[in-house]
Amino acid sequence: MPAFLGHDADPAFLGHDADPPSRLARERETEPLRARRAFCRAIALGLGAVTLGARPALAQPPTDREPADPGHLTPEESAHVPVLVLPRRPRVERPFDLIVQIGDPTHTMAEHHRIAWIEVLAGGARVFRAELGPAVAFPVVRVPLVLTGPTVLTARAQCNQHGVWRTRREVEVG
Ligand SMILES: [Fe+2]
Repeated sequence: MPAFLGHDADPAFLGHDADPPSRLARERETEPLRARRAFCRAIALGLGAVTLGARPALAQPPTDREPADPGHLTPEESAHVPVLVLPRRPRVERPFDLIVQIGDPTHTMAEHHRIAWIEVLAGGARVFRAELGPAVAFPVVRVPLVLTGPTVLTARAQCNQHGVWRTRREVEVG
């Protein structure tokens, strides 16, 4: 229990008079005042409990991983970074294929260490997701897309041992 919760008998802490009530004053306390003090203590304790209980939820979720230097990938980055293959300038409102491959060479798909899912976002909205089981030979998906304007495409993939990895690409349309 935090130290401040031990101050529940301190009137100053509860927003009452700075000086603790004298014995005489305490004897004069009316029942409503005692009830009010008890209520204030309960509120203080409750707030403390809520704050403590909420602390784990404040922890930020791990962010998607991206290579520190895309020009020089580490072996771990090479194995996990999604590789996007698509036309240099897709035609507006004309379907095209986006190929997403996880890793170069592709990541292993063993039961204990594999890519669990791949998803594609267009302009921040998820447009595709695939769950991959261990029977999938390679973590590669083909996604037919159609764009109505310049779009940021994002491919995300989760390795069951090394977290979520992401690649973003700004795509111009012709
Ligand atoms: Fe991995």
